[in-house]
Amino acid sequence: MSSFWHWWVIVLVLANILGMVWLIKWAEKKKPGEAAEHETTGHSWDEGTLAEYNRPMPRWWLWLFYITIVFGLVYLILYPGLGNFGGVLGWSSAAQYDREVERIEERLEPIFAQYTELSIPELAQNDEAMQTGRRLFGYECAVCHGVDGGGARGFPNIANDKWQWGGTPEKIVETLTQGRSAVMPPHAGRPALEGDGLDNLVAYVQHLGGREGISEDTITAGRSAYEQAGCIACHGADGTGNQAAGWPNLTLGEYTYGGDAETMKETILNGRSGEMPAFLERLGEDRIHVLAAYVYSLNN
Ligand code: HEC
Ligand code: HEC
Repeated sequence: MSSFWHWWVIVLVLANILGMVWLIKWAEKKKPGEAAEHETTGHSWDEGTLAEYNRPMPRWWLWLFYITIVFGLVYLILYPGLGNFGGVLGWSSAAQYDREVERIEERLEPIFAQYTELSIPELAQNDEAMQTGRRLFGYECAVCHGVDGGGARGFPNIANDKWQWGGTPEKIVETLTQGRSAVMPPHAGRPALEGDGLDNLVAYVQHLGGREGISEDTITAGRSAYEQAGCIACHGADGTGNQAAGWPNLTLGEYTYGGDAETMKETILNGRSGEMPAFLERLGEDRIHVLAAYVYSLNN
């Protein structure tokens, strides 16, 4: 806070409190007993049939008022509230939050450390660990992959044992630790996609994925577009891709973005670049170990 706002807040807060004291004093002008029994304030309503007696405020009520004012002042001395002044107790919400996080971490550390001694397939059989895994998954992963890991458009299904980057314990840990960036470059403007080229290519990719009822002619034309457009370089001559590089296997019939013709055309013409965030810094190795076991358990 700049010093202007610092003083601005202080003046405003203190002026308000002083204002309240003044307000009470003003309203308290008449001490009990001083006002005549039936003296009115002079306000009247309903053509004079309804009038307001001039009665003092009850003592107990006034005292409550004074007590709250004293409480407010004491609070402002002990805790932050007056501009940049942090209060004599040195309390801050951020520090309290950090202390609580630290306390929880201290309690959880031995539990996670004990899980780390088990291999991922072993841990995947441990009900207690998997409950923790499910909770962590709900907090950290479900926004993108869905509560059940079933994925959504643009976010892969990680519960069906069909992998882009690999489903071994090591590969899952690697995915969570360092994240994944995939780049499918745009192919708009390739001569092989002109005319019927794109339609044939899409039909061929669908054929690779197991779709039935596509004519031999279309498949032949599509395969040649597939070769000429350069799809082979990444997805391979047989369409099985390359897990180490994150180039999807098109023969699984499993699509992150979609297997319908419209979506495939979009993928081919504009490219795709899926990003799985890295979690090492956020979660640490021990939690990643438990989460990797949870993902493993969804598939085995
Ligand atoms: C440079 C390597 C590369 C080339 C060349 C390439 N792709 Fe891809 N392709 C990828 C990668 C990587 C992905 C995954 C993108 C992602 O995860 O965001 C992908 C994704 C796809 C998908 C989406 C699959 C899904 O899960 O929805 C289709 C379909 C596809 N490619 C078809 C093709 C076709 C057809 C060609 C040729 C025109 C081609 N690709 C050329 C690397 C490549
Ligand atoms: C912001 C969205 C997002 C969050 C959060 C996220 N992921 Fe992902 N994840 C993705 C995307 C997108 C991909 C696919 C990357 C690509 O296109 O190659 C992916 C890929 C993966 C893969 C690789 C799948 C394969 O087929 O190889 C695994 C495993 C995975 N995520 C697990 C997790 C786990 C566990 C968490 C929670 C710690 C998590 N993800 C959190 C977006 C997310």
